[in-house]
Amino acid sequence: MRLIIAVDGPAAAGKGTLAKALAMALGLPHLDTGLLYRAVARQMILSGLDPASDDGEQTAHALQPADLLRDDLRVPEIDRGASAVATQTPVRAALLKRQREFATASGAVIDGRDIGTVVFPDADLKFFVTASAAVRALRRYQQLHGVAKPDQADLDLLAAEIEARDRKDAERPVSPLRQADDAILVETDHLDAQAVLAHALSIVKTRFAT
Ligand code: DC
Repeated sequence: MRLIIAVDGPAAAGKGTLAKALAMALGLPHLDTGLLYRAVARQMILSGLDPASDDGEQTAHALQPADLLRDDLRVPEIDRGASAVATQTPVRAALLKRQREFATASGAVIDGRDIGTVVFPDADLKFFVTASAAVRALRRYQQLHGVAKPDQADLDLLAAEIEARDRKDAERPVSPLRQADDAILVETDHLDAQAVLAHALSIVKTRFAT
């Protein structure tokens, strides 16, 4: 089936993990759209531009598939840079086309902030995945540092950064982070990745009788 499934939500809520697992379970391609914004920020920095103040449109148009495969896209500098370039309307327009082309041919599970509201408002199914800032900070800490016991001060700092980024993503005038009216809310504070996947798959099965 050529389903388009949108998975939106704030930073470190588990949407990427869900989208990837759902894509694998359903035999669909997966697109992490946050990587596009991250790659634009990284390429700008490599060209001597500042994602917070310079125009990223040309960089967005020139983005190459290999730019998404770099291993230096999930670092704090790029967390901030991606959130900054994501406020630029021409950057979003350039990336919108890529996202639609990716998913239209074969269907896809696609995760981001505005997939269900702007990129694919007619998606077959939409999830909005969220969790409290404290839980999201712990998950981000574990992504960055493994299972080492976190220092409370580090966790507080991460939670503050995550909340600042959420605010920026939700308050920007263009394509803000927002739950689509027809999206299914999935709260992951008390669910591990397997339980979230099982829940989402049960909804897919009910909805599409696969
Ligand atoms: O999902 P992520 O943390 O990798 O996303 C990085 C940044 O990109 C995030 O601050 C918001 C932005 N983004 C966006 O504005 N729209 C999307 N569809 C995906 C990400």
